[in-house]
Amino acid sequence: MTTDWDALRAAAVNVASRAYAPYSRLRVGAAGLTGDGRVVTGCNVENASFGLTLCAECGLVSALHATAPAAPLAPSAQACAGAATPVLVAVAVVAGDGDPLLPCGRCRQLLLEAGGPSLLVDTAAGPVPLDSLLPAAFGGADLSARREPAEAEAGAADA
Ligand code: THU
Repeated sequence: MTTDWDALRAAAVNVASRAYAPYSRLRVGAAGLTGDGRVVTGCNVENASFGLTLCAECGLVSALHATAPAAPLAPSAQACAGAATPVLVAVAVVAGDGDPLLPCGRCRQLLLEAGGPSLLVDTAAGPVPLDSLLPAAFGGADLSARREPAEAEAGAADA
């Protein structure tokens, strides 16, 4: 799929105007293209308790899941994780001045789970794959490989 970067940047600029950023006075807008051709957006939302601030990318990732097309009935185990996992393929993040803003570290991690290492992220120098911004990332595979067995599994192994 080809990405219309101008349209994606314009969507990010548009949603940045909706940001609630009275404390930092830095409006941020994020727009992402999904694998099935939809554009999802988010803006930053601040709070008087500063640590509760939501970055624009958080809103984008929430919208990605919230607007995903309904999936056929899934087995219950899948239902918890979300039946149809939507995927981002390209993301533009801008500040209120309209220029690209590099996602913060937390949001790079969030985007990794929504788009994978090859997700294209716009920068002032043009789109780059996410893994160049977040090399050697921690991910779900590390969790499955390294976590301790659940008590029930450990008990079964002992028996
Ligand atoms: N911000 C984002 O929305 N995304 C980022 O990746 C970096 C920072 C917001 C959070 C806060 O409202 C403001 O920018 C200043 O940090």
